[in-house]
Amino acid sequence: MPHDINLIATIAIGLALAFVFGFLALRLRLPPLVGYLVAGVAVGPFSPGYVADSGLAGQLAEIGVMLLMFGVGLHFSVADLMAVRKIAIPGAVAQIVAATAIGAVMAMGWGWSLGSGLVLGLSLSVASTVVLLKALEDRNAVETTNGRIAIGWLIVEDLAMVLALVLLPALAEALGGQAGAGAQGPSDQGLLLTLGITLAKVTTFIVIAVVIGPRVLPWLLRQVARTGSRELFTLATLAIALGIAFSSAKLFGVSFALGAFFAGMVLNESDLSHKAATNVLPLQDAFAVLFFVSVGMLFDPSIVIRQPFMVVGVALLVLVGKSLVALGIVWMLGFPLSTALIVSASLAQIGEFSFILGALGVTHGLLTKEGLNLILAAALISITLNQLVFSGVDRLIAFIKKRPALKRPCEEARNERYAQLEGELTDAHHRAQEKAAAHKTFTPEELLARFPLFAGLTAEQREVLILHFRPATAEPGKRLIRAGDEADLAYFISSGEVEVAVGSRRIKLGPGDYFGEMAIISGHPRSADVTALDYSQFATLSQRDFRQFLRRYPSIRNQIAAIAAERGEMNRQFLEEMATEDAAV
Ligand code: CMP
Repeated sequence: MPHDINLIATIAIGLALAFVFGFLALRLRLPPLVGYLVAGVAVGPFSPGYVADSGLAGQLAEIGVMLLMFGVGLHFSVADLMAVRKIAIPGAVAQIVAATAIGAVMAMGWGWSLGSGLVLGLSLSVASTVVLLKALEDRNAVETTNGRIAIGWLIVEDLAMVLALVLLPALAEALGGQAGAGAQGPSDQGLLLTLGITLAKVTTFIVIAVVIGPRVLPWLLRQVARTGSRELFTLATLAIALGIAFSSAKLFGVSFALGAFFAGMVLNESDLSHKAATNVLPLQDAFAVLFFVSVGMLFDPSIVIRQPFMVVGVALLVLVGKSLVALGIVWMLGFPLSTALIVSASLAQIGEFSFILGALGVTHGLLTKEGLNLILAAALISITLNQLVFSGVDRLIAFIKKRPALKRPCEEARNERYAQLEGELTDAHHRAQEKAAAHKTFTPEELLARFPLFAGLTAEQREVLILHFRPATAEPGKRLIRAGDEADLAYFISSGEVEVAVGSRRIKLGPGDYFGEMAIISGHPRSADVTALDYSQFATLSQRDFRQFLRRYPSIRNQIAAIAAERGEMNRQFLEEMATEDAAV
C-alpha cells in the first residue's frame, strides 16, 4: 500500500468492515459494538490479511474519544448529578477501590508487580460511557431514575479516571515504572513537585474553562449563528470541541478527553447547545466506530488459548466482582433490589477509559502488552455479554415482583429512599426545563405555526432564523416601547397581547403580530408607546439582526415595509384628525 494513502485506507476499510460486522452483530442480536471490535481484529496485526496502520487508527480513535466526551459534556447535567450524588459518589468510589484492590491482588497472585496490578485493577474498575448509554437508550431507560443513577455513577467514575490519567504519569516511577522518555531517577521531592505541577496545571485549566469559557464560547457561537451559515456553525462547533481538546492537552497537559468534556460542558449552558449537539452527532458516531475498530486492532485473540485462566479471571472480575460490589453498596444505601440489580448490570462492562488507562500504563512501563491484551479481552467479553446480563436482570426482577414473600422485603419496604430520590430528580428536571424555557425560542415548525409571515422561508432558512431570536417576556402593564426613544429591538409576539398607543388611539396586537419595526426601518425615534396587556412572550431581534434579516429575505422585507408604511399612514391621518379636532375646539 503506498504510504500516502494509508489514512484513506484505514478510514475506508475500517468503516466498511465495521459496517459489515456491525450489521451482522445486530442480526445475531448482539450490540453492533461487538461487530466494530471484530472488524478491528480483522484488520489488526493478529489476524491474516490486510493490516491497517495502527498508529493512524489510534489517532482516529482519539478524535472519537474527544467527540464523545464533548457530547457527554454537552449533555452533562450538574443538577442531575447533584440529585444522585448521595448514591453515585460513594457507589463509584467504593466500586473503584474494591475492583482495583481485587484486580491488584489477583495480578499479584500471577506474580505481577503491585504497580501493574493497580493499573490492571483500575482499568477494570471503570465502565464505558458509550456502552452504558447505548444499553440504556436501547431500553428507553436514559431518563428513568435507575438510568440516571447509573449515568451519575459513571460520570463520577469518569471524573476519577480523568484524575487517574493525570496522576499516573506523575506516579509512574514511584510505582516501579518510568516517568517517560529522558526522566531522571526517582526522588520524593521530584515526585511531589511533579504532582504539584500537574495538579496546578489541571486547576488552572479548570478555572479558565469554568470562568472564561462560558463568557466566550456561547458568544462566539452566537456570532457565527448570525452569519446565517449552517456549515460555518457546524465548523465552529467542531473547531471548539477539537481545538479546545488539543490546545488544553498541549498547554496544560490534561487529557484530550478532559479538554473536550469541559468544552462541551461550557456550551451546555448555552441555548445553542442543542443545535451544536445535533450537528456533531453524525461525526461523533463515525469516529466512535473507528475508536472501537482501533481497539479491536490491538487485540490478540490467541491470549484466550495462551492464558485462559487469566482471561476468565478478568472477565469474572468485571462481570461478577464489580456487580456484587455495586449490588452491595446500593443495597446498603437502602435502595430497592431492582435498582441495585439495574445499576450493577449497567456497570458490568468496561470500555474506552480502560483502554486509555491501560495504554498509558504500557507507555510508562507499568503494564505489559499482555496486560493490555487482558483488558481488551475483558472488554470484548463484557460488552458482548452486557445485553445478556441485562435480560437476566430483567427476569430476576420480574421473578421477585411476582413473589410477595420476596417483593415486600426487597422492594416495597425499601421504596422510601427511591421515592425521595425520584422526587429530587423530578424537581431538578423541572428546574432545568424552566431554565430551558426561558432560553428557548421556537422550533422551525412552531415558528411557522405562529408567524405566517415566515411561510415563504425554506426549512433551513427558518432553522437559521430562530438562532437569531432572543426570547423575552412581559407582565401586564409593562411598557415595552416608549414613543420618542431610540430603536433597539424588534418584537415578534408569540403569546399574549400588547397595546400600541398613538395619541389617544389604541391598537391591539396579538400572537403572530410584530412591532418595533418602524423605527428600525426609518432610523427615526419610536413612533408610539407599546405596553403589554397580558402575560406575553416574544421573540426579539436586535436592530442589527433585524436589518440583516430584512436584507436577506427581500420578500419578507417587502411585506414588512408595506405594513410599516400602512401603519405610518394610519398614524398620520389619525394625528391630523386629532389636530383638526383640537383646532375646532
Ligand atoms: P416603532 O416606531 O419602532 O415603535 C412603536 C411601534 O408601534 C411601531 O414601531 C410599530 O411597530 C407599532 N405601531 C405604530 N403604529 C401602529 C399602528 N397604527 N398599528 C399597529 N402598530 C403600530
